[in-house]
Amino acid sequence: MDHPVNHFENDLVAALSSNVKHISPKYFYDVQGSVLFDQICDLPEYYPTRTEMSILSENSKAIAQHIGPQAELIELGAGSLTKVRVLLRQLELPTAFLPMDISGDYLRAAARDLQKEFPKFAVSPIVADYTHDWTLPDPLPETRRRIAFFPGSTIGNFLPAEVDTFFANCRKYLPGGALLLGVDLLKSPQIIHQAYNDAQGVTAAFNLNLLNRANQELNTNFDFSQYAHWAFYNAPQQRIEMHLVSLKRQEIELNNQLFVFEEGETLHTENSYKYSVDKVQKIAAKQGLKAGPVWTDPNHWFGLLWFDIPDFETTKGEKNESYLE
Ligand code: AVJ
Repeated sequence: MDHPVNHFENDLVAALSSNVKHISPKYFYDVQGSVLFDQICDLPEYYPTRTEMSILSENSKAIAQHIGPQAELIELGAGSLTKVRVLLRQLELPTAFLPMDISGDYLRAAARDLQKEFPKFAVSPIVADYTHDWTLPDPLPETRRRIAFFPGSTIGNFLPAEVDTFFANCRKYLPGGALLLGVDLLKSPQIIHQAYNDAQGVTAAFNLNLLNRANQELNTNFDFSQYAHWAFYNAPQQRIEMHLVSLKRQEIELNNQLFVFEEGETLHTENSYKYSVDKVQKIAAKQGLKAGPVWTDPNHWFGLLWFDIPDFETTKGEKNESYLE
């Protein structure tokens, strides 16, 4: 297994040292975690994947037209590459597809399969963590436009400041390009609650797998039977929170240090923010992104939002250039 861009050990030590214990959800995605996530996507309660897929299928022609010919598509947090196939099939002479993910083994295998299916353009996986590093190869000479595709509402994992940074990075690294962003929209908390508390317990297994990963990779002594999955909708913050609750007082050894979990204490493993279309567009506008069409489902449960990213040329002379730093 390779994790060239992870700092799991440091981050877990920091989490366990703190009295409010939290760790980034990016550590869910070892091979086992990626498999469990794919199972989540197929659950009857987990509406986002299915809804986003239906929006993509219904609107793939219109979206492809917006992308235009000879585009290079960059998928952020690519995972299993199911959604992007719908788009790739409709694109006119795409020059390259660059899927980016931190789960290297999983990404490379998925990219190999995709290349076989689409032999006419280059499929070049990039093993990187787009929350830190946006190092992209130069576009191919025949490329007309670079489009970032960020589906799945993974943006929901970002804290508000990280959302700002994300849009600033789009502006900085994709001048003249565009962003197609999948966003899970505000809706009844019951529907959201069920999506993260499925009857089969797959989400619980996904959450608990983090402890399994720590035991395997960092040699910790987590006893999974003594932690429980806990997910709830935090309405004032408009986000689902996932935690692992300690069912008793217990000690964890990591890095030759002992850390205590009190009974009922939690390790906060994920936030999944929900948005209104308007709110996302306002946040993106702060970084100079121009809102385009919004594709959605009949219930408005999920949105695919288009943003045009201005070219450097057209931004000269604007007052607020802080995003270029
Ligand atoms: C991949 C971050 C979009 O927040 O819904 C699914 C991850 N966590 N079930 C989400 C997840 C629990 C998912 N994202």
